[in-house]
This record gives sequence, structure tokens and C-alpha cells, in this order.
Amino acid sequence: MAGANFGVIGLGVMGRNLALNAERRGFTVAVFNRSTERTEEFVAGCPDRRFVPSYSLPEFVRAIERPRTVLLMIRAGPATDAVLSDLLPLLERGDVLIDGGNAHPEETDRRQAKVSEHDVHYLGAGISGGASGALHGPSIMVGGTDEAYAIAGPILETIAAEGPAGVCCAHLGVGSAGHYVKMVHNGIEYAIMQALAEAYDLMRRGLGFSADEAADAFEAWNRRELAGYLVEITGRILRRIDPEAGVPLVERILDTAAQKGTGKWSSQSALDLGSPAPTLAAAVYARILSSLRDERIAAEVLLEGPVPKNENHLNPETLYSATLLTVIGALAEGFRQLRDASDEHGYSLDLAEAARVWMAGCIIRSDLLAPIREVFLETPGCRFLLAAEPFRTIWTEHQAGFRETVAWAQQNGIPIPAMSSALNAFDAYRTGRLPANLIQAQRDYFGAHTYERIDREGTFHTEWEDA
Ligand code: 6PG
Repeated sequence: MAGANFGVIGLGVMGRNLALNAERRGFTVAVFNRSTERTEEFVAGCPDRRFVPSYSLPEFVRAIERPRTVLLMIRAGPATDAVLSDLLPLLERGDVLIDGGNAHPEETDRRQAKVSEHDVHYLGAGISGGASGALHGPSIMVGGTDEAYAIAGPILETIAAEGPAGVCCAHLGVGSAGHYVKMVHNGIEYAIMQALAEAYDLMRRGLGFSADEAADAFEAWNRRELAGYLVEITGRILRRIDPEAGVPLVERILDTAAQKGTGKWSSQSALDLGSPAPTLAAAVYARILSSLRDERIAAEVLLEGPVPKNENHLNPETLYSATLLTVIGALAEGFRQLRDASDEHGYSLDLAEAARVWMAGCIIRSDLLAPIREVFLETPGCRFLLAAEPFRTIWTEHQAGFRETVAWAQQNGIPIPAMSSALNAFDAYRTGRLPANLIQAQRDYFGAHTYERIDREGTFHTEWEDA
């Protein structure tokens, strides 16, 4: 067989599906996995296709035409460094390595520097869309040099999802830009999932909906502004009946949410940047709280609270308003964070492009991304999405319902961390004078940290105890 024009290292679900995707689109793909059995099993499962199985790294490298494009689909962290140590001495000047895992952006910066010492290129590519996206067309967010993208970009663009505004793969910026955008994608992913879980809880405990009725509501929402992949799968999940128990499967699933860490990294980075992303952080804390199941069960009997009863105020329409504005809030926070990170790290991110590559293939794909893209095409420096149309109008139409839902949930003791955080963030943002004047006075009182005044220039200190 002729030389391979693409190589994939790591045949877990994502690596396997990306290799299948690339081969289906005409590439001859060299494949390598640390365990020989997995490689054998993979090629045995797809006979007569253009795969070149390799059972050692030298054999793998020899199988690929130069300049080589090699996709690493291995567990982010030390495993990536281990493969790099073995692989780098075998590669040649101008070859391109693509790290397709969920790597921490700082790790990507470090690896890019290390790899460039060998005259090899290193692209950090965030790949979203789960197993099905990898097979049929994911969203690919790439960071690195123009030179490296010129070599590897055409392959990545061929395997990516086709979206309404073009192929969902883009060179988003230098260095770790791609992995940074993917990290924030996951921060937004957590927040949207949390918002939908809160809506489900309010449907169940507030509106008394069965799982089927909740599925009907999510299906209806998926025909409105909120339409998107996560809303769609939520409707489908709620319909699934557990064949053994004969009840909706979701009701038998343990209520502790796991996490691999990318959403947490996104919030950690927002804090470091001083970028306001409270809804994204609330979703991380909600997962952490959910994991304290034993403590929650004990506290349920210790701490009294209201028994939810729906008298007025909560109805499917106000709940839609709250969910829609929370999801928009999560997206607004995420894009704001991307802008702040771009300024801080010199990524030169084009936010319209980030919105465009999220329009198909990825987990947060939704109809809201088209108007978001329009905002950034028109006003590239926009820092607060809600101030731009159509979002200002959506706010005006839905804010009353949002408030009613949040107030109702809090009065009835139903936790809504994402919804309440989003509303508080919006209200803080649209408040011209916040009570932070008092915080400045307190800081000055106990620490002589000084304050500024609204009526005079300069820095002031008061001996507060003198009076
Ligand atoms: C994607 C996803 C994916 C992520 C899973 C699990 O874009 O395809 O974000 O990369 O790994 O969603 O993430 P958690 O385990 O942190 O929920």
C-alpha cells in the first residue's frame, strides 16, 4: 500500500472514530496504539480499508509520507508527555503533531516549546462532539503556527463537521488558543447542562410534570430560540424507559455528576483573568455538591425547608424564559472570557470564528450561535453580548419570567445555582452603582487599603475609629 498521508496514535473511542472518519474521506491512515491487541482488533474490524497498522513507533513513523501529520488521541497529561518523548526523536523537520485531547492550555504552551526544539510543529486542537462527532464530523478548534496549520489544516477541515456557515474547523490563534477555546466550550457545556437540569427539576417538583411531559416541553423548546443539541438530547433522555424497572431510566440514575476537569479549569482561568463567569463556576460547584450525596441525604432530614407548591408564578413559559436567559448568560460569560484570555495571552482570537466553529459538530451547538456570530462580525470587540441585538430584545421580553422563576424556586427551596447566578450577574452588570463603595470603606477601615471618591480625584484614607 502507498504511504499513509495521516497518522493516528491512540485507538480509544475518539481516536478510532477519527481514524475511520479520515479514511472514509479518502486518506490512508497509519494507526498505532500502545497495546498491540487494540490495533489488531481495530484493523480486523474494518478489512479492505486504507489503514496501515503499525506495531511500533518507528514502523508508524516510516509508514507516513513527509511532512507527516500525526494526530495524538491519548489521555491528556503524563501519557502525552510519555508518547512525545518516544516519538520526537523519530520525527523529522517540518512534521506536524496535533494534540487532539482535552489538554490544559498551559501544558500545550509548554509542549509546543519543547516540540519546536526538534523543528517539529505542534498544534493544540480541541475536538468536540463525542464519539459520534468524531466519526461523522466534529468541531475542531486549532491553535498553533500558520506554518503548521498550512500542513495539517486541510486534513482537519476535511474530517470536521459541515456547519451552516462553513466547515467547523478553524485556526483560531497562536499557541494554546485552540485548547483554550475548547476549555471554555466545556465551561459553557457544564453551565448549559446545569441550566437544563434545573429546568427539569422545576418541571418535576414545581410543575408536577412526568418525565414524558418534561420531554414534551424540551421538544417544544427545541423548536424555539433555545434549539440545540443539549436541549434535543435532554428530550430524548427523558423518553427512555428502563426495560427492567419499567420507569423512565433517568429516574433510576444516581444523582451525582462526575467531571474530568475541563469545566473546572475554565473557571480557574476565569478567576485568574478577573473575567466574570459566575454561571460557569456555579455549574462546577453544582457538580461538586451533587457528589456529596451522603452528606446531602443526612442534611435533608436535619434542615427544614419549604415543601414546593405551585401557586402562580411558575409556568412552562416563565421557565422557558429563565432557561433561555441562563443559557444566553453562560454563552455571554464564555465569550467574554475568550476575549479577556485573548488579550492576556495574545491569542488574537476572532470570536466570530469561535462562534462559527461551534455551530455544528460540538456539544454546545445551538441556534443561538448564529446571532452570536453576527454580533462579533459586526462588533468584534463586543464584551457583553446582552447589550447587542437580538439579545437585548430577548432580555426585555424574558426578564420578567426569569425573575418570577428564580424567585419561585428560591421561595420553594429548589436549588437553581446556574439560573440564580446568571440573573445576579446580569443585574450586577446593569447596575451603574453597586455597593462596592462599602467594601472599599471596610478595606480601608481594617487595612488602610485606601479608596477613591466619586467627587474628587486622588486616593484617600480615613482614620475610621477617630470619630
Ligand atoms: C466534547 C466534550 C468532551 C468531554 C465530555 C466529558 O466537547 O465532546 O466536552 O470533550 O470530555 O463532555 O466531560 P466531563 O467528564 O468533564 O463532564
